[in-house]
Amino acid sequence: MIIGIPKEIMHDEGRVSAIPETVKKMVADGATVLVESGAGVGSFYSDEEYKAAGAELVDDVADVYARADVILKVKEPLFNEAKGVHEVDMMKKGQYLITFIHPASPVNHEMVKNLAAKGVISITLDGIPRISRAQNMDALTSMSTCAGYKGIMLAANDLAKFVPQIFCAVGMIKPANVMVIGTGVGGLQAIATAKRLGAVVYAADIRPDAAEQAKSLGAKVIDLGVPASEAVGEGGYAKRISDEWLEKERAVIAEHIKDMDIVFCSALIPGKLAPILITEDMVKSMKAGSVIVDISIDQGGNCAITTPGERDVKHGVVLEGIKNIPGMLPTSSTWMFANNIYNLLKFLAKDGEMALDMNDVIVQSSLVTIDGEIVHKGAKEAMGL
Ligand code: NAI
Repeated sequence: MIIGIPKEIMHDEGRVSAIPETVKKMVADGATVLVESGAGVGSFYSDEEYKAAGAELVDDVADVYARADVILKVKEPLFNEAKGVHEVDMMKKGQYLITFIHPASPVNHEMVKNLAAKGVISITLDGIPRISRAQNMDALTSMSTCAGYKGIMLAANDLAKFVPQIFCAVGMIKPANVMVIGTGVGGLQAIATAKRLGAVVYAADIRPDAAEQAKSLGAKVIDLGVPASEAVGEGGYAKRISDEWLEKERAVIAEHIKDMDIVFCSALIPGKLAPILITEDMVKSMKAGSVIVDISIDQGGNCAITTPGERDVKHGVVLEGIKNIPGMLPTSSTWMFANNIYNLLKFLAKDGEMALDMNDVIVQSSLVTIDGEIVHKGAKEAMGL
């Protein structure tokens, strides 16, 4: 099996899908590993270290795509400005792609259709179910941990005031108010980080278990008023709530948002479009200089006016829509990511060949395209197929 590791091309992306330690394991498993020269630079791994681990360094990424049976990437395929070609157009029929695809998000629909048209077998890391045997393959959990931490650091950096309470000779400066909406993996890490910085932290989630966990980290829980029967679905995951309940939820958030300095959004229904919980009018009601970090942007965002992939200022509020926050923490995030993707690859391959077990829930929930078709439920629903 030939495994290809291209350099990531998203703006400011420091991560890479394999590190010398995992390359060494792949080679020991019998694979040939092609690493694009310079692929590890953003995470502080040199070409020499990859070579010493047994990789073959390749200068032209087109050769990596042409020769590999399996491409391992961090972010979804994008247009490669330097080469003047989209990454999907360098791929070939029957080739495997394992990466974060976020196929339900409208900005990715065309790319997903192109993957299907090319005959690429694509597997999305955001589809790995949160079950115990998949824990060590769950890159979304790892990356959400990074985004929760670094997202709060970004907000603190954007904020024109202190986060903690400060006493000085001319008086007292109040601590910042932080609201975390969606207290799953990313949200809980955001709460813990904001608490450590000294903020007063509020939390809102529709699942009672998530609200309970937020409370145990010291957050003040905002009751969204959505009954558990409406909110909790299969496997304990959140369900998409009806438009009426969403309307009521937005009304509760609207009451609190005007008092917040930082709003951290990480509400998500796995595999689906993120619910819109903050409208433009709600942004207008916020204090000038406040910050919204919308990490659900990969699934479309929780705030109606976040620009995907960008930092913007609208109505005096900073809107962070950065899609690769873990890329700003590359040493930690790459180490986590590279180990997760190696474990997934090891699970998917049998006797040195890729062998998808279509009856396995890990494959069923992460497969996006195969045999020219889009098979991912959330993507098909979002595309109206
Ligand atoms: P998670 O599934 O652990 O948590 C999502 C939480 O949202 C759940 O607790 C759920 O109950 C809650 N939720 C669902 N609907 C809600 C609603 N209507 N109101 C309030 N809460 C609601 O997800 P995780 O792993 O924390 O990821 C969150 C988001 O962060 C995802 O969209 C993920 O793709 C994104 N992410 C973004 C990164 C970036 O750089 N921008 C990096 C890593 C993750």
